Amino acid sequence: MISRRDFLKRASGAAAATGALHPWLMWADDAAPRIAGKDGMIVRSERFLDLEMPPEFFNSWITPVPHFFVRNHMHEPSTLEADSWKLTIGGEVEKPFSLSLGDLAKMEQHTVTNTLECAGNGRAFHQPHVPGVQWQKGAVGTARFNGPKLRDVLQRAGVKSTGKHVMFHGLDEVPGKVPPFIRSVPIEKATDGDTLIATHMNGAPLTKHHGFPARALVPGWIGASSCKWLSEIKVLEKEFDGNFMKPGYRMPNHPLKPGDPLNLDDSHVVTALNVKSIIAGPTDGSTLRSRSVLVHGAAWSGEADIVKVEVSTDAGATWQLAQLGHEQAKYAWRLWNYKWKAQQPGEYTFMSRATDSQGRTQPVTAEWNPSGYLYNAIDQVKIHVQA
Ligand code: MTE
Repeated sequence: MISRRDFLKRASGAAAATGALHPWLMWADDAAPRIAGKDGMIVRSERFLDLEMPPEFFNSWITPVPHFFVRNHMHEPSTLEADSWKLTIGGEVEKPFSLSLGDLAKMEQHTVTNTLECAGNGRAFHQPHVPGVQWQKGAVGTARFNGPKLRDVLQRAGVKSTGKHVMFHGLDEVPGKVPPFIRSVPIEKATDGDTLIATHMNGAPLTKHHGFPARALVPGWIGASSCKWLSEIKVLEKEFDGNFMKPGYRMPNHPLKPGDPLNLDDSHVVTALNVKSIIAGPTDGSTLRSRSVLVHGAAWSGEADIVKVEVSTDAGATWQLAQLGHEQAKYAWRLWNYKWKAQQPGEYTFMSRATDSQGRTQPVTAEWNPSGYLYNAIDQVKIHVQA
């Protein structure tokens, strides 16, 4: 458990590490204490580590690494030495070769500020219930990823005209008969100038939880595209169709009725993220002692830009424009806030609704699917303003 005082101390430390003490901390509400893991993270699974960021930590544009969610399908590699690590590049290429960490460091480096979100973020809110890790709001974070462009590595290998997809293989320790973590992305996304072989996160080498010594960074796409602990990059003639591509990480081509099974022949691999916003504060169920409230949160939309966030303080009857934070980057979330004064004590329902540059707006109800991917319904919290 963390106390309110500890939370404020930690949060200001985190904000200091990323540049500034965030003014919103002055408006922190009476968040109920919660059972928390190391660094205040919510532990969703211990066997294969899955850590969620609690809403209180959506307070800085760049998420400090200790607050960045962790999603592991298997055990992290136990013996991974930087000196002996090698990345092989092969498949449909003219000159297969391998790279050491030192070789990657000598290549031209590129930085991408990216909001990474797990496809299953928000799964807990789907109705009816969907099995899987019950992520609520915080399987998402924004970081500065740095490393060589995947394009430069592929150019050196010389991709043949038959090369249509690029496969990543991670070094996870695979328990029993579980298939290894292998996924692929189309060659167009792999050769986009912002797709990286990332070795650094927020200016420091990747930590083990986040893929040390190197991970793929496929910006704007679901987190599963960004394979951690990379060992192999292979150019393929067609999309990889192993477990984590099929049946994993697929959406129906046409909306399903809740409870309907997924027909794999009428489905596609999940790629870019949806338009989405979340309310970080006040937190759901909190009691506010002041009538002046700063409603705040984050909004993101994968490869598109956020153009507006609207807030309702009357359960969706009326909507007002929120103010967007000035920090922005192509694939990064926008923080937003809305100042509101309660006319009288009572119960209130706050909602947030984002719209992106492709004209997409968050729906009232997210598209239900059997794996609970891409949840993006209008967010809401219920609060109580004290007399
Ligand atoms: N890469 C490997 N090798 N193994 C994994 O289990 N999980 C994926 C992706 N890359 C995973 C992986 C998923 S589902 C997500 S959401 C992101 O990593 C999470 O990245 P993070 O743990 O650095 O936040």
